[in-house]
Amino acid sequence: MKLFAFIVLSALSAVTSLAKAKEHVFDINTNKPGAEIPSTMYGIFFEDINYGADGGLYGELIKNRSFEFPQNLMGWMSFGDVSLKDDGPFPRCPHYVRLAVCKEPSKWTGLQNEGYFGIGYQKNAVYRFTVWARVPNGGVAKISAQLVDPKTMGERQQYLGETSITVDSKDWKKYECYIKCADHVEKGSFRLLLDHSSSTVDLEHVSLFPKDTYKGDENGLRKDLAEALEQLHPGVFRFPGGCVVEGAELESRYQWKNSVGPVENRPLNENRWLHSFDNRLFPDYFQSYGLGFYEYFRLAEEIGAEPVPVVSVGLACQYQSNRHQPLDQLQPYIDDAIDLIAFANGDPATNKWAKIRADMGHPAPFNLKYIAIGNEQWGKEYPERLKPFVAQIKAKYPDIHIIGSSGPDSEGDKYDYLWPEMRKLKVDLVDEHFYRDENWFLKAGNRYDNYSRKGPKVFAGEYACHETGKKWNHFYAALLEAAFMTNLERNADVVRMATYAPLFAHVEGWQWRPDAIWFNNTSKFNTCSYYVQQLYATNKGKHVLPLTMKGKPVAGNADQDGLFASAVLDKNDHSVIVKIVNTGDQPQSVSLNLKGWGQTMVSGTLTTFHADNMDAENTLDSPQQIVPYTSQQSGKTITISAKTFIIYRFSKK
Ligand code: AHR
Repeated sequence: MKLFAFIVLSALSAVTSLAKAKEHVFDINTNKPGAEIPSTMYGIFFEDINYGADGGLYGELIKNRSFEFPQNLMGWMSFGDVSLKDDGPFPRCPHYVRLAVCKEPSKWTGLQNEGYFGIGYQKNAVYRFTVWARVPNGGVAKISAQLVDPKTMGERQQYLGETSITVDSKDWKKYECYIKCADHVEKGSFRLLLDHSSSTVDLEHVSLFPKDTYKGDENGLRKDLAEALEQLHPGVFRFPGGCVVEGAELESRYQWKNSVGPVENRPLNENRWLHSFDNRLFPDYFQSYGLGFYEYFRLAEEIGAEPVPVVSVGLACQYQSNRHQPLDQLQPYIDDAIDLIAFANGDPATNKWAKIRADMGHPAPFNLKYIAIGNEQWGKEYPERLKPFVAQIKAKYPDIHIIGSSGPDSEGDKYDYLWPEMRKLKVDLVDEHFYRDENWFLKAGNRYDNYSRKGPKVFAGEYACHETGKKWNHFYAALLEAAFMTNLERNADVVRMATYAPLFAHVEGWQWRPDAIWFNNTSKFNTCSYYVQQLYATNKGKHVLPLTMKGKPVAGNADQDGLFASAVLDKNDHSVIVKIVNTGDQPQSVSLNLKGWGQTMVSGTLTTFHADNMDAENTLDSPQQIVPYTSQQSGKTITISAKTFIIYRFSKK
């Protein structure tokens, strides 16, 4: 209903504004297709920030399932006779719990897990409970597993669902069962209760997943969130960070080798975002590595994106620490990068890392083409470390494209120093980051027009419009991102990849905003920025077409009435896609002068993305408040309402 009203109002405002609209002529030379738009042009960047992985995309619902958090029972409420042990079956996760029946027969022994901001249960959904267990002294133990609504006002707390397992082996074994949930609960918990007649039992790696994960994987991803990524049609997938690659100290950098192999034996890592902001402190933020490099590569494959893993260059986050890996002790870091290429592409018969990949279920290579070394690094410490990486990777894998960094800033000293260094090192692409305000975005429409076409290409690896004091995902920020992206598209010969950041945020667990997708335990919404990314990715085209107004690119310059524009030729070469962003306060009329198509009439679809209120945003309660809509359009003149992004996709009539 809301959407309908919006469409009608928008149509009316477009009609009433026609009289006021100023005329502009865009010259589009359809005879001169320019650079090919790479398949990698628009993509996604995933980092475990804002509870993006554990508690987010990763389907696991139990926090601290292996009892490895520094406070071993963090996330658990234990009661009765529960003790902690550390000689478990998984050497890199040695802790487990021992449950014994209480001496007082009426008292219970058990454990209850709080999940991440509670556990979200869906009505009629089925959950897969697995646990490693043994009865150390023999006998039989019966454990009841309950999906609990701790806050219920109903007669029974555990009305949501319940099952039980019987443990009868002195050896560690994995037990598995399914529990159907009777109701929807946003903040449930998970309880294990030891039957009064049980023998003592040991429990390790207590896990609960929705059965219905993305693509049905057992160690799978939360379906709605993974599908939101798929629906972005990303051409490239950068992971796993960001600052988590660097670590607050080197010890907590993301170590991909710890993230592969059986999940039960992946060691815990502190999440670098745990301590970052004392105004938003999340002392229970750790990385289980359950969403590890195998899962990242699989996801890249499933959503059709080129994987771009990022590895540590031996520099911990330079904002926080200068305890870096000495140059003469860098080889293990370089080996990590080289072994990663083998993990992704190598032959399982001859390479131990490739064999791990095959043993995990993917004997075929992942066909990795890119690797990024370092994230937001700066100073001479960076190129002097990057140099041996480049030399050794290029010697062993000459076809792999290496991505360096121009530091954390869009311009300035660090950027000015690093770009020439990246050229000297002959990296293939340079990762640029810019979290900038509205003013910056309004003025950045020509950023890449004069970049050198020689040497490394650009990967705009992290960017978002951040207005001071207004860091929610309001429409205007997304509109300016759309405007800026005409610049990326026009310069597709030099900008080969671009990924908005960050991708995910839990509404209760965020450290950084804005973000593309927000979620709670059971639902999610796409922000306006998400829709801009999706509109570009689904209207990518194949070749850039030169588009000018009075001989100049349309990039929000002084005499251009707030207009930004780009044009591409579609895949089949039969249609043209023109993107126009009107950032101004007045409607603007644009006539398309299609050189090469003569006087031929054209028609097609017009996609419009607009909000009346620039501060408006989508929310969990109103996830569809601001969405693009498509109508039919014919002719070469279009009127673009104030503060509106349109995509006109047309062909000859
Ligand atoms: O995207 C959030 C953070 O911003 C990334 O971890 C880092 O690369 C940048 O500073």
